[in-house]
Parts: sequence; structure tokens; C-alpha cells
Amino acid sequence: MIGRRNRREFAHTSAVDEPQGELLPVPPARDVSRFGHGSRVPGWDDAVDLGKDPAQIPDPATTPVPQALRSEIEAHMAKYPDFRSAAIPALAAAQRHHGWCSPDAIWQAACVMRLTPGYLIAVASFYDMLETRPVGRHAVYVCTNISCSLCGADELLDRLKDETAGDPQFNVRAFECLGACDIAPMASVDGVYVGPIAVGEVPILVEQIREGLPPLPGKQLRLRKSTDPGAARAIAGAADPVTPTTSYGAPMSGEAAGPPAKIEAPPPPPEEDA
Ligand code: FES
Repeated sequence: MIGRRNRREFAHTSAVDEPQGELLPVPPARDVSRFGHGSRVPGWDDAVDLGKDPAQIPDPATTPVPQALRSEIEAHMAKYPDFRSAAIPALAAAQRHHGWCSPDAIWQAACVMRLTPGYLIAVASFYDMLETRPVGRHAVYVCTNISCSLCGADELLDRLKDETAGDPQFNVRAFECLGACDIAPMASVDGVYVGPIAVGEVPILVEQIREGLPPLPGKQLRLRKSTDPGAARAIAGAADPVTPTTSYGAPMSGEAAGPPAKIEAPPPPPEEDA
């Protein structure tokens, strides 16, 4: 059987690449949570039916593709020297149209791109924002990475899951750092960054999503004031930014006062060896 051996198995053959001396203790095995098929990753080893012929590029004559979807995919293909570079945006467009990367969605995208469905399935099953199973149409990604986790992201995620339990419209999941650590704990709600979100605000947030209203407008990242007081207003048609209320100190406002920070002198060059 091919597998990973532990140190003790190598002890008698370790003259070349193992340090001599006392053997290190073998760490105790950790419990690792796994999916039903035994993998730690969902879906990577879905069975392949080797008895089937490989799928060919779908025939345009027998594959109806909605005109809006076709136009969007063709516009993405036109942006790249190699049209296959448009695979991800094409799949994202098909997902928006169908709700997930369903067999029909993949087939239609493959038809427009003149690729095999297998090529696009390989891409869709690698990127976790491309859904290869049916999901709710409202994507709520709660960042549970370090900054957000320290500020209560795990409780926030649990509360959001409780509040949306049984509602098929919602796709609530944990996500790695979304790059907005300064508004931790935060979430991406249908692509809109919102934070910091208090656990007590979850019911109103969920209600706003259900009603199709902007999620927590006072806490949307794109509407926050920045060090450039005009930056947020520069969004075409946007109202004046709403000052967020946070428990992390007073929000920044107005013009920056005082002299600019001193620029540090560069360190001296290292001394030459004598
Ligand atoms: S840790 Fe949450 S956005 Fe970075």
C-alpha cells in the first residue's frame, strides 16, 4: 500500500535523510472532520462514469441558450487573447442566470465557449464561489478568519444560520478572509460588504435581505467615509454616506488635522567587512 510512513518506520533506513539520535515522539492522531465520501473537501472525488463516452462540445443547433446569457459570455470572451480565460466569468454569468452551475448552465456556457462541459466542470468544481449543487439565491458569506473570529464571527455565523434555518432562499456559509478586516466581524451579503455586524442586528439584517432592501445601509463598506471625504460621494448617484455606529470607537469624520506624519529616515547601509 502506498501511503505516508511515520518516523518510526524510517528509523532503520534513515542514514541519509533522517537525523540520527533520539526519535521524536509521534504526535497523537487528530480527529479530522470528513465528508460522507471520506474526503475533507466536498465533491472533489465525485465518481466518474468511465463507461460513458466523453461529452462533446454541445451542438449550437440543439442547445438553446438565452440571448442575454450568450451576449454576456461572448462579451467576456472578447476581453482575453485566449477565450478560455473567460471560463470563470462565463460560469459566474451562467450561475447568476440559473442560480447555480447546474448541468444546463454548464452545457449552455460550454456551447457558447466551444468547450467541452468537462472543461468547465473542472473549473466550476475548483472554485468554491461557483456552486455545483443547488443553493439559496441569497449568498451570505460570513468571514470567520482571524480578525473577524476574534471579534465574534463564529457567534455571528451561528446566529445567522439559526435565523435562516429552513429558508431555501439563503446560502449562509463561513468564508476565509474577505479582505475587510477593519470592519470585523463582517459578511458579504449578495456581494455587499457589511460590518461590523452585532449579533443583535441579525434579525433585522435577515429581514432586509428577505424584503430585498439594502442590508444594514449604515454599515456598508462602500458607503463609509474614508480619509478622502469626497471618495464615497464619488459613487455615481450615491447619497451622502451614512455614519456607521460601531462599538469600536468614534468613527472618523471631517478633515484630517495636524501636520502629516514624519517620514522615517531609511536605515544606514550595513558596514563592510574589514
Ligand atoms: S479576517 Fe475577516 S475580513 Fe479579514
